Amino acid sequence: MKVLVTGGSGYIGSHTALLLLEAGHEVVVVDNLSNSSKESINRVAELTGKEPSFHQVDLLDEAALAQVFAEHNIDAVIHFAGLKAVGESSIIPLAYYHNNVAGSISLLRAMEAAGVRTIIFSSSATVYGDGNSIPYVEKMEIGATNPYGRTKEMVEDILNDLGTADSSWRIALLRYFNPVGAHPSGRIGEDPLGIPNNLVPFIAQVAVGRREKLMVFGGDYETPDGTAQRDYIHVMDLAAGHLAALDYVNDKAGVYRWNLGSGVGTSVLEMLHAFERAVGHDLPYEITGRRAGDLPAFWADASSALADLGWSTTKTVDQMCEDHWRWQHNNPNGYQEG
Ligand code: NAD
Ligand code: UFG
Repeated sequence: MKVLVTGGSGYIGSHTALLLLEAGHEVVVVDNLSNSSKESINRVAELTGKEPSFHQVDLLDEAALAQVFAEHNIDAVIHFAGLKAVGESSIIPLAYYHNNVAGSISLLRAMEAAGVRTIIFSSSATVYGDGNSIPYVEKMEIGATNPYGRTKEMVEDILNDLGTADSSWRIALLRYFNPVGAHPSGRIGEDPLGIPNNLVPFIAQVAVGRREKLMVFGGDYETPDGTAQRDYIHVMDLAAGHLAALDYVNDKAGVYRWNLGSGVGTSVLEMLHAFERAVGHDLPYEITGRRAGDLPAFWADASSALADLGWSTTKTVDQMCEDHWRWQHNNPNGYQEG
């Protein structure tokens, strides 16, 4: 298949592009490079021996998107492009709705015009909000509690309506839990701009000496060690989930939603200690106040993805940290050093 990957030079997109190429698909990447570097695509080419076609295009530029569809005979789209910082989304909500919702509409209109009807969409566990019991199951009512999460919910709604209006659409909504890790080569990985918001990228920067210590947000939750629990998923497992979903919807029209997680909760301190094992020594940390908006614990019920797609996670928390550390150690400044 020829697959258009929006946001393909970003963290999850680059790992998925690599697996698509390894599986024999052709890859066309559309990215405006607002949160990534073209160097990730160069490295995907180096690792696979195959060159993705790269277009520096903003999703909001519908004419430029139409040109990409005209140039390539696209069979399916995997749609990663979006802004993703939860805290920032409350400060500049319009930018989030414009980029994530209007950008998705622009993409869907270009797909419709080009006769492409297959899309895999990056949704998030954040759509479950704070009113559900754990583990989260796909059939639960959703209700995001921040603008970023609401953009995901809105795009889910749009795709749902599209699938209802026209039954030829093949749509997968993938609700990711917490992606971490990197390709085992250490050549591609997550390269956050500025101070990382997320736990593992922050720990990795402490380990490499770019940050003084980890601040653990909350030590008084009702969890086994008092720190918050999340469902961490290796980015290679997550990427594989996209190929499985693509295979599934390719011969079954309709709208499908799957959690992509491990089904297991890991605490902040357990994650820190796994990272310390990968690095080979202790790392400095301090327990501080809770971060506003954080939930004490959540993880996926991942049984639908197993039943429907035959997909489940394969990598342990230790492997996630080892691979994340290899990437960070070999590329202390991310892609900046080329
Ligand atoms: P990322 O920032 O590394 O990748 C997103 C890519 O999209 C970037 O390369 C960016 O330059 C590009 N982009 C953004 N807006 C664009 C636009 N208007 N036009 C073209 N390109 C644009 O993020 P990621 O971690 O790889 O996340 C990929 C997707 O998965 C996002 O939609 C994100 O919301 C979703 N997601 C991520 C996580 C996570 O924790 N990483 C969790 C759940 C869901
Ligand atoms: N944490 C710290 N210190 C830090 C960073 C994080 O203690 O410096 C804690 C947080 O308080 C939380 C846990 O580590 O308890 C995980 O935090 P992350 O920021 O890594 O992940 P979140 O679960 O808060 O959110 C992430 C994405 C969301 C997404 C969600 C589920 O940022 O967009 O995973 O996929 F919705």
